[in-house]
Amino acid sequence: MEKKKEQWGSRLGFIFAAIGSAVGLGNIWRFPTVVGQNGGGAFVLVYLGMVFVVGIPVMLVEIALGRATQRNVVGVFKKLRPGTPWVRVGVLGVAAGFIILSFYSVIAGWSLAYIFKFLQGDFLHLSPSEIAQTFGDLVASPVTPILWQGLFLALTMGIVILGVARGIERWSKVLMPMLFMLLLILIARSLTLDGAREGVYWLLRPDFASINFDTVLTALGQVFFSLSLGMGAMITYGSYLSRREDIPKSAITIALADMAVAILAGLIIIPAVFAFGLDPESGPPLIYITLPAVFQNIPLGSFFGVLFFVLLSTAALTSAISLLEVVVAYWVGELKWSRTGATLLAGLGAFVLGIPSSLSNGVLADYTVAGFPFLDLMDALTANILLPLGGLLLVVFAGWVWGGKELVAAVEGEAGRFPLGGVWAVLVRWLLPLALAYILLSGLWPGS
Ligand code: TRP
Repeated sequence: MEKKKEQWGSRLGFIFAAIGSAVGLGNIWRFPTVVGQNGGGAFVLVYLGMVFVVGIPVMLVEIALGRATQRNVVGVFKKLRPGTPWVRVGVLGVAAGFIILSFYSVIAGWSLAYIFKFLQGDFLHLSPSEIAQTFGDLVASPVTPILWQGLFLALTMGIVILGVARGIERWSKVLMPMLFMLLLILIARSLTLDGAREGVYWLLRPDFASINFDTVLTALGQVFFSLSLGMGAMITYGSYLSRREDIPKSAITIALADMAVAILAGLIIIPAVFAFGLDPESGPPLIYITLPAVFQNIPLGSFFGVLFFVLLSTAALTSAISLLEVVVAYWVGELKWSRTGATLLAGLGAFVLGIPSSLSNGVLADYTVAGFPFLDLMDALTANILLPLGGLLLVVFAGWVWGGKELVAAVEGEAGRFPLGGVWAVLVRWLLPLALAYILLSGLWPGS
């Protein structure tokens, strides 16, 4: 009865799809925002350090778990430790995927809307405060952003329905090269603006005095979010990978590409913001208010505006695909649903769950939890709590319950020796569980 398991068609297909998952709103919207709010260069440095010490090791764990079992996030635990509570870690991952997809599609929907706003010249001759007003009107509307969110989810579902090789891989191979080209064009534009240099300084010059515990927690959340870790996206993508592929090489490629795009996006946005004397600390609206204000002031600004929001939408699409695929792979693999049925239901679920996030900028603006509007709450809950918690449980499982000796063997597969395997295994068994547990506990009980 067992249908043949889906597989990537090529090594590059996997790499493109995984980079597509990693590179998204996290790099282009979230990274410049959190850098702006956390003092610039110092945060960047903490972030980069954490990519190497936490991000890449956790990514190796996820890809290895997926490939060794060839199962979805829940299936991994059912196969390795059937009938134990570990299965719930998989369920937690699926839940986190749903929540992220719900608010992610709202923000991506704004990006789609902006492509059309720039095409129509809606921002021409507006002052920054009028642009802020336009953005405010868009997100506060009870209907329009929900329609854009629905359109974004429909595109995502369309690709996931086509399957792993014919949908996800094929589209990633088209969209990712396009994204890199757009990045390069925009960066050339931004860095040649008068006054851009100050922004480059601010982004890259570390001010160690501004590093504190919050910086560390925020950087950790950003690492998990940006590299798509902690909820099984890389487990799922790893499950379609052949035993001959070199996992360490792939993980390093993916992490470096993700880091590069975050820094490049920072180099597009922050210098432009400085060049026009705007505020890099303006928070989440940075790219929806501040950046259009910049584009209004440069020749061919509407053109660059369209390019930027095509870039952002593309990056978001390949990431949303991976979020949806985690849920779909679970329902197809464990509940034996059809891919089409699972995709439609999961997409619809994320759409409905996203509505409160969308409305939290309008009619629900007054309902906050601990000071967070709903959308911000979902973002903080997943990035700062659920993903690091998922990561903690995954390293404990891999290092102590499953792994030990098999751990390095699982990463190596048939691809040859992993020279840093010993160091990595120590990280997974000792340093990461302790560090993640410490950061999570201190973050959840401030002052303790
Ligand atoms: N990494 C993506 C981004 O930076 C978002 C994302 C996709 C994600 N899949 C994920 C985040 C899985 C966490 C887990 O925008």
